[in-house]
Amino acid sequence: MADKKAQLIIEGAAPVELPILTGTVGPEVIDVRSLTSTGRFTFDPGFMSTASCESQITYIDGDQGILLHRGYPIEQLAEQSDYLETCYLLLNGELPTAEEKAKFVSTVKNHTMVHEQLKTFFNGFRRDAHPMAVMCGVVGALSAFYHDSLDINNPQHREISAVRLVAKMPTLAAMVYKYSMGQPMMYPRNDLTYAENFLHMMFNTPCEIKPISPVLAKAMDKIFILHADHEQNASTSTVRLAGSSGANPFACIAAGIAALWGPAHGGANEAVLTMLDEIGDVSNIDTFIAKAKDKNDPFKLMGFGHRVYKNRDPRATVMKQTCDEVLKELGIKNDPQLELAMRLEEIALTDPYFIERSLYPNVDFYSGIILKAIGIPTSMFTVIFALARTVGWISHWKEMLSSPYKIGRPRQLYTGKPSRDVVKLEDRK
Ligand code: CMC
Repeated sequence: MADKKAQLIIEGAAPVELPILTGTVGPEVIDVRSLTSTGRFTFDPGFMSTASCESQITYIDGDQGILLHRGYPIEQLAEQSDYLETCYLLLNGELPTAEEKAKFVSTVKNHTMVHEQLKTFFNGFRRDAHPMAVMCGVVGALSAFYHDSLDINNPQHREISAVRLVAKMPTLAAMVYKYSMGQPMMYPRNDLTYAENFLHMMFNTPCEIKPISPVLAKAMDKIFILHADHEQNASTSTVRLAGSSGANPFACIAAGIAALWGPAHGGANEAVLTMLDEIGDVSNIDTFIAKAKDKNDPFKLMGFGHRVYKNRDPRATVMKQTCDEVLKELGIKNDPQLELAMRLEEIALTDPYFIERSLYPNVDFYSGIILKAIGIPTSMFTVIFALARTVGWISHWKEMLSSPYKIGRPRQLYTGKPSRDVVKLEDRK
């Protein structure tokens, strides 16, 4: 909705009037789309000041530390809903009624298996491949299996692809793990909840089926909820950009997985644990804090800072509580890594460098500690993030395709050589 206008004064040219758009909540947005007709572009590397799209899915107030999905605070969803309800909410805009939920859960369960042929893809990977490398490959490969539903202009096809992705990600993630372990892959069990089934496929073997701890299943479910969506971050923007070219949903999600992998984004959960291992002992914290502050050192305190949150990450608060519950359930007392993490947090939060830059622990700071306690290896952490974020990615992809959209095609400020002629090889100096 545009009610106000901004005026752009350009030296030597007529002023340009730009509409100011307002959302339901959040800052005003200056609509610069008409600027191209003046022969000028805006310059915003890293999208520090750019809203790349309009969306109704997730809202973040980074100053207040607020995260809402379809208007509902993340803390309430983590406490009162479950992951599949949150998926329904993200995909459809409303929390389901009991009847809608039962139908959705049953639909998802109908799609938990993957094509038997897909198993053969795994054999092409080394057993010690990083699980995210395998995930990029096998999720992209799903496009080769579902030719019946790849018409992106057909809303039913979009719907079924979304459900297939949500349903199959735990199966694929567990297959990746089992492959790395050299253990038989476990088929999904539709009598279990989404989180229980994932833990079953991860940790059970055909010769030993152990019951799944309800506390751990609940913690896993909360981890899934807390990672479900986070508006236009690097991976979601990647999915939208790939989708804007008309690419199929499985290819788009594979692109999202690749973007998530980096340590500045989803790869941070793995990097936190690697960092804690590297620090090793409380006595070394000061050295690492000094490294994090040193501009000549590329080291950053993993699990700290966020582009949007300049306050506590609300997901980190819930994650910390969940962490306590899991460690209690598992009888883990005085965990040295947790103690190290707590001390690191305490020191960083009182250090002027971190205070001045509003660097707080983010979601990845605690999730690794819980995942490790559950028994999930460090290399699988980002896979868990990808599994949970798939619903967010596909919700954004669906939202984009449901309204008129244009291919994402940014411009640039060119600072290379101007036009020049090629000189013959023998004449070049
Ligand atoms: N350790 C030390 N200094 C930091 C850190 C950190 N973790 N994060 C930011 N800074 C400094 C940075 O050097 C800069 O200082 P200065 O103003 O003196 O140049 C200032 O704080 C602003 O940082 P920035 O890099 O310009 O901020 P950004 O918005 O571009 O980057 C970030 C955000 C998340 C990439 C960055 O904070 C970071 O690399 N954090 C560590 C990795 C991490 O935990 N990532 C997970 C993010 S949450 C999960 C997700 O949604 O993906």
